[in-house]
Amino acid sequence: MIQGNDTPRDSFSTKFGVIAAAAGSAIGLGNIWRFPYVLGENGGGAFLLIYLGFIAAIGIPVMMSEFTIGRNAQLNPVGAFRKIAPGRKWHLIGSLGVVTAFIILAFYTVVAGWTLEYLVQSVKWLILPERSGVAGLEGEASRLFFQEHYTDFTGGIWRPVLWFLIMLFFTGYIVASGVKKGIEKYTKILMPVLLLLLIVLVIRSLSLEGAKEGLVFLFKPDFSQIKDAPVQVILEALGQAFFSLSIGMGTLITYGSYIRKKENLASTAVSVAAADTFIAVIAGLAIFPAVFAFGINPGQGPELVYITLPVIFQNMPGGLIWALMFFLLLCFAAITSTISVLEVIVAYLSEQLKMTRRRAVILATVAVAVLGLICTISSDVFAVFNASPDILLPFGGFFIVVFIGWFFSKDTLKKELSSDGAKRIRYYPVFVFLVKFVAPLAIVFLFAIGVYNKVITVFPGIG
Ligand code: PFF
Repeated sequence: MIQGNDTPRDSFSTKFGVIAAAAGSAIGLGNIWRFPYVLGENGGGAFLLIYLGFIAAIGIPVMMSEFTIGRNAQLNPVGAFRKIAPGRKWHLIGSLGVVTAFIILAFYTVVAGWTLEYLVQSVKWLILPERSGVAGLEGEASRLFFQEHYTDFTGGIWRPVLWFLIMLFFTGYIVASGVKKGIEKYTKILMPVLLLLLIVLVIRSLSLEGAKEGLVFLFKPDFSQIKDAPVQVILEALGQAFFSLSIGMGTLITYGSYIRKKENLASTAVSVAAADTFIAVIAGLAIFPAVFAFGINPGQGPELVYITLPVIFQNMPGGLIWALMFFLLLCFAAITSTISVLEVIVAYLSEQLKMTRRRAVILATVAVAVLGLICTISSDVFAVFNASPDILLPFGGFFIVVFIGWFFSKDTLKKELSSDGAKRIRYYPVFVFLVKFVAPLAIVFLFAIGVYNKVITVFPGIG
């Protein structure tokens, strides 16, 4: 595809490259940091079951819709809606995606920066146990040590800011190198390494005595656990499904615009969703058996991987070498996601506002740096930013499926999904049914009960 300035549009060069990049975006802190603690707080297996339902019925259709829009238009989310639906307001969904990208990138890169701190600390704990104070710590003393480290670190300013800026710099560097020579090149290396590290950790965790309880917690649905706040649990599962798959804000419209015409969009979407879910589940398998083996409460929130896990690692045979591996994999998972979010903004700036890629990267990272600094300074802003994707992403996802289901030309849709007639699309009627009815109605319904629930908590008299 030739752009206005006659240079060929950058694209992913292989099928594996497409899957590595899109799965790299999907697999991130959402799988390894957020999924286990959200699952832990919401009752384990029952949450997992609801989550899987959302991935299949809503997640995959939204992902296929994003790929279709992007590849068809060969543009960023704003440009894509403008091109496909000229003179209509749909481009606002693209703009909302760009704004969401700023918000997500700000808080996400802050947490991604923590992985660097923990990576460096793990090396220190490992090679200088006496000097760093971890030598000989056991039980409660060990918990207190890591708790204190976490509170000191996240409560401070300079170190979180420094790691945040370093992470942002690496992200900018990869994105500035382009789609093929940056995003594709790095994700193709980092994703297989991540998988390998995680598998080693799962084996380690499962071989601990008492690991079975963790498996029961993860895989045995116990719906009595969610009966107190079913609506909240369901909404949380929906938000998590969107966040984890990187859908609802145009990230996959952007990546879709770099997918070559011959690639199969449906099988790509299914592979990416399957890889993402697989990694979330095996992250649970690496974490919960160890959590239960050490008799720790699984529902402790965001601190799970930053306090509980180091305690567990330190008390495991082999010790902090596992921590080093874990934080390395977390760091890889994070950066393959941050680059996808930055790419949304950079594609927008360079195509809509005609900036060079380099200039777009500089402008975007400086703006994100300012927002991220506010996040590191104010824990309230951080909490709002961290919670906002649960609403913004399903909101954007609703309009994306409605656009494909009700407004997008069905001939073009068939052409995109079948790669111009080269592939059979037997699933087509099911897909159309999902994007026209199931996904939008489910999102509206869940939002409506969510709002109703909020209202009756604020004004109990109404209910
Ligand atoms: N999917 C990423 C994760 O699970 O960590 C987070 C994310 C990346 C969300 C890109 C949204 C996005 F566009």
